[in-house]
Amino acid sequence: MNSLTNQVYPVIWHNDEVLLIDQTRLPHEYAFVEIRRSDDMARAIKTMIVRGAPAIGVAAAYGMYLGAREIETDNRDEFLTRLEQVAEQLRSTRPTAVNLFWAIARMLKIAYETLGTVDEIKQTLFHTAQNINAEDLQTCQAIGDHGLTVLPNTPEKLTLLTHCNAGALATAGYGTALGVVRSAFREGRLERLFADETRPRLQGAKLTAWECVQEGIPVTVITDGMAAHCMKQGLIHAVVVGADRIAANGDAANKIGTYSLALVAKAHNIPFFVAAPLSTVDFSLPNGSKIPIEERNPEEIYKIGDTTITPTGVEFYNPAFDVTPAELIAAIITEYGAFAPGELKHYQEKQLV
Ligand code: MRU
Repeated sequence: MNSLTNQVYPVIWHNDEVLLIDQTRLPHEYAFVEIRRSDDMARAIKTMIVRGAPAIGVAAAYGMYLGAREIETDNRDEFLTRLEQVAEQLRSTRPTAVNLFWAIARMLKIAYETLGTVDEIKQTLFHTAQNINAEDLQTCQAIGDHGLTVLPNTPEKLTLLTHCNAGALATAGYGTALGVVRSAFREGRLERLFADETRPRLQGAKLTAWECVQEGIPVTVITDGMAAHCMKQGLIHAVVVGADRIAANGDAANKIGTYSLALVAKAHNIPFFVAAPLSTVDFSLPNGSKIPIEERNPEEIYKIGDTTITPTGVEFYNPAFDVTPAELIAAIITEYGAFAPGELKHYQEKQLV
């Protein structure tokens, strides 16, 4: 954390290495992990030391540079073949967040397009990783501000609900859904944020709540099953979540539990918004049915801390994401503005790959 501004940057380039905030230790410990090699970056993504779609993209971009730096050859073809292997290892870490694949594709493309020595390609890769990081920060600030244009006009001070963590920790900084919350807070339009705890890994209770505390944003943590009740009581004015992969028609994959939240929001006539950069859109998928859904270790369900909470002899199913159909989404908030999911296709040519 930048001590002057309270800004949280989960991926930092410092002294020729990457520093990652260890998100598995928050909120109790604010510690960094030093990453010097691409295989360490792959491990950090897989074990969720770094997580959240845009942050994974930034981390993977640096992972590509670190991998490039390790390749000892002056032969361009050999270098590119080995860079493809680095890309493959990074791609195999987590399947759902498309920003990972987007960032790797952008890094590979620039490597192939750079005509010059291997050292020059390495330099270009470094600058591209830096750009991906800097662009995401600006993108999130734009998303936050565009979000203000679609939030309900009344009451003057809103109570928003979010799920998982789509904050500074999940991006280069500032956040997508939490970026909208931050912008609303800055403009005096936020009464309070309700944060779903987000079973099983508790990103809401641990990470979103921690970020809010850093900035003095009033936050109430609820368990996931309480959202419908809170809506029925009139406590929530709008829902804002992030996304891991959005199909061309606007169907949006996000943390497991998001789909149920969209359904209960619809039942209570509460607008449901998805905030995400264009790098989260997978224009190759016409709809959400083919979005790969990561399944994680069942231990995340049956263990709380070191304690096993279930009897022996039961089975588990642990999908990490679900897909919210576009018709439940009032608007998708991007760096280019907030618009209906059906409008997304008009922005395809703006995606930088
Ligand atoms: O499994 P995680 O913690 O990586 O999942 C994160 C989410 O689902 C976020 O909502 C999403 O990546 C958007 S982050 C701006």
